[in-house]
Amino acid sequence: MINKQNGDDAYMIIYENITKKYDDVIIIDNLNLTINDGEFVVLIGPSGCGKTTTLKMINRLIKYNEGNIYIDDKNIKDVNAVELRRKIGYVIQQIGLFPNMTIEENISVVPKLLKWSKEKQIKRVKELLELVDLPYEENAKKYPNELSGGQQQRIGVLRALAAEPPIILMDEPFGALDPITRDSLQDELKTLQQKLHKTIIFVTHDMEEAVKLADKIVFMSDGKVLQAASPEEMLNKPAHPMISKFMGKLSYSRSGNDLTCEDVMKKKIFTVPETKKTLECIELMKQKELDTVIVVDANGKYKGIVTIEYIREYGKPGEMISKITKTDQPSVLINTNAKDAIDKLIELKCDYLVVLNRNKTVAGILTRTSITKALASVVWGEED
Ligand SMILES: Nc1ncnc2c1ncn2[C@@H]1O[C@H](COP(=O)(O)OP(=O)(O)OP(=O)(O)O)[C@@H](O)[C@H]1O
Ligand SMILES: [Mg+2]
Repeated sequence: MINKQNGDDAYMIIYENITKKYDDVIIIDNLNLTINDGEFVVLIGPSGCGKTTTLKMINRLIKYNEGNIYIDDKNIKDVNAVELRRKIGYVIQQIGLFPNMTIEENISVVPKLLKWSKEKQIKRVKELLELVDLPYEENAKKYPNELSGGQQQRIGVLRALAAEPPIILMDEPFGALDPITRDSLQDELKTLQQKLHKTIIFVTHDMEEAVKLADKIVFMSDGKVLQAASPEEMLNKPAHPMISKFMGKLSYSRSGNDLTCEDVMKKKIFTVPETKKTLECIELMKQKELDTVIVVDANGKYKGIVTIEYIREYGKPGEMISKITKTDQPSVLINTNAKDAIDKLIELKCDYLVVLNRNKTVAGILTRTSITKALASVVWGEED
């Protein structure tokens, strides 16, 4: 992507020879990095390698010792910090919604600071809630604790978008969510970015998430960039053994035909017995921050799924969730060839398949992410 002709909406970010030290310890070591306008860049690397520091230097929450950062050709040292931060939305892992404010008030924090008119604020909140399928009428007056974890995290993202900043910083925003919710929020974020053309810098520990979201992945270690490349390039040509290690299953050296669902599924899956009452189930989902749960019988065998939307629509407080369990969510057996399972997923146009052990207990889920597709093309080659 090229810096736009019109200077006003070009938001390229350039780190030039940036060094950050705490006392004599070098945390960021001569960082040079260009982030193009509208690019989705994911920073990844081991804990302590300097990802959060790299992020926070952009909005001057952390000062650097040497070098320069330019946004839109302006040295950020020369920009007023408040002015600077208006252009930059910031989302952190722990959501950070204000518990005593409604969803609407939470989203409007920055517009209010900017003294937008009441009408303009409401219009913006409606617009944003629509983007993530949370209707204004049903949600605006709720408090954060009345929403599931996934819904709260959506609101955290909306809050960062509210004043239409061209740049969004996201520090492990989905780290605490369950795999299904996480997967659907990743999809939403990717769609949002394609609609809104923001420049996004996203930090994660999770290579699968990085491959799914990024236009460019920046792999850091000890304050240095080991490789900055497209997901495909990083999968095909990891520049360092540590990167290969992070790729784990993704850059398998085994023949792809040997892979089974067990190799590519997500394993940590939360299940709920079908005898749970609807209300208890909602409570559990809130506690665990889940939008969807997998329902099992007394022997742990798979029965179906229940989603928050389903409970809202059909649930009655005293009834068991077996009454509203959706039983048509497709499943596959754990030893199914991974390529066949991915084909099934794509053919059925569903977001995920439930993976079952031979005795029908739940082993995991297989999600429809571009990583599975990327993996498919890397290990099996592109179809003609
Ligand atoms: N205020 C501070 N004083 C001294 N050292 C610090 C300070 N803040 C961070 N560090 C150190 O700087 C290094 C980089 O920290 P940073 O938070 O950027 O890492 P990170 O890559 O985001 O890690 P994680 O994945 O665990 O969030 C770490 O070694 C950390 O201990
Ligand atoms: Mg961090």
